[in-house]
Amino acid sequence: MASTHHWNGVLDSALDAVGETPLIRLDRIRDAEGLKCNLLGKAEFFSVGGSVKDRIAKRMLEQAEKNGILIPGQSVVIEPTSGNTGIGLALACAIKGYKCIITLPAKMSLEKEVLLRSLGAEVVRTPTEAAHDSPDSLIGVAERLKEQIPGGVILDQYSNPNNPLAHYYTTYGEIAYALKTSNLRRKSISALIAGAGTGGTITGLARAVRDSEKDGAARATIVAVDPVGSILGGGDVGMYQVEGIGYDFFPAVLDPKPPLIDEWIKTNDDEAFAACKRIIRQEGLAVGGSSGSALAGALKFLKSEEGKAIAEDPTANVVVVFPDGVRNYMSKEWFLKQEEGSRDAELHDTIRGIIGRDLDDPYLKKKAAADAKANGASDSAKPNGVHATAA
Ligand SMILES: Cc1ncc(COP(=O)(O)O)c(C=O)c1O
Repeated sequence: MASTHHWNGVLDSALDAVGETPLIRLDRIRDAEGLKCNLLGKAEFFSVGGSVKDRIAKRMLEQAEKNGILIPGQSVVIEPTSGNTGIGLALACAIKGYKCIITLPAKMSLEKEVLLRSLGAEVVRTPTEAAHDSPDSLIGVAERLKEQIPGGVILDQYSNPNNPLAHYYTTYGEIAYALKTSNLRRKSISALIAGAGTGGTITGLARAVRDSEKDGAARATIVAVDPVGSILGGGDVGMYQVEGIGYDFFPAVLDPKPPLIDEWIKTNDDEAFAACKRIIRQEGLAVGGSSGSALAGALKFLKSEEGKAIAEDPTANVVVVFPDGVRNYMSKEWFLKQEEGSRDAELHDTIRGIIGRDLDDPYLKKKAAADAKANGASDSAKPNGVHATAA
């Protein structure tokens, strides 16, 4: 199952640049948290479409072509998604010449929608609060479109076995290969932590890990992370901002119980976004919000009774999946607003002293523009108003 890096020579198309992402030490966070184990991030934003979901899009589409479900020149690919599966599919459709329609809940970022459109997909926004079985939900609208558009096909990441299989065959193989060829003392996974949306990532990885244990590897602990407001890891349905993880129903591809998944950990938006910014600031990895959820969940696990032995073992390898990158979320309020104390105040003051004015802060600018709008002031009436308030 282990793969070698395939970026030798020239690739046939962007589809050959799906996956093959690096496993990266998070030593600064590990040390700051007083952990002894190796803390390793699987950085999926390196994949060509920018996320872990490129893998399933490619596999679902290619298998559907093999099985005659998709017919070039005729089929229209329709998919309900939180965006990343859509980007992977739209990218594959652009290359292969299929029409593509993506249904996307309103809360998902503008960046995802604009990228989808630039790849040639039609995007239909749906109300975030619509229950999964409502005709207005992302799934309900996709179903209605499929029924009425000739050649319409939903590959359906929620039930398609190629979703977990993509991770079984590629994501796990890459992690195993990275560990095997590393200079780490142990070559196996001690704990694996990932968020769950459809559950394809965690289920596919967990199956591959359990199969590797049949060959004699020590048992790994598999931890799934779920946002407060989702029912997958327990609790009630509610609203949350983090994108890509959590649902109000159990997708068929998710196998939520032991022996596959040992534990579920809940995280909230504040923890997720703070951890996301920390990964960027301390490790230089520009990951997205659900990567923050995964790290926050990993740290909770490593500090728990169950996780302590792993945290204190210097040979243990703890792998955290980072599903996408922050370039998907640049316009989101939570990202524009940087944490207090995240900038070097002394350096900031020095620069201000030299250039003789305040530095532009995109969050303050946006906030000032919103305040001005709320107060009924138009930008044209007060050309300097926004800037003056921001300073
Ligand atoms: C940003 C992000 N994180 C995490 C996930 C969860 O992955 P999975 O659906 O494999 O559980 C997704 C899935 O769409 C995602 O887009």
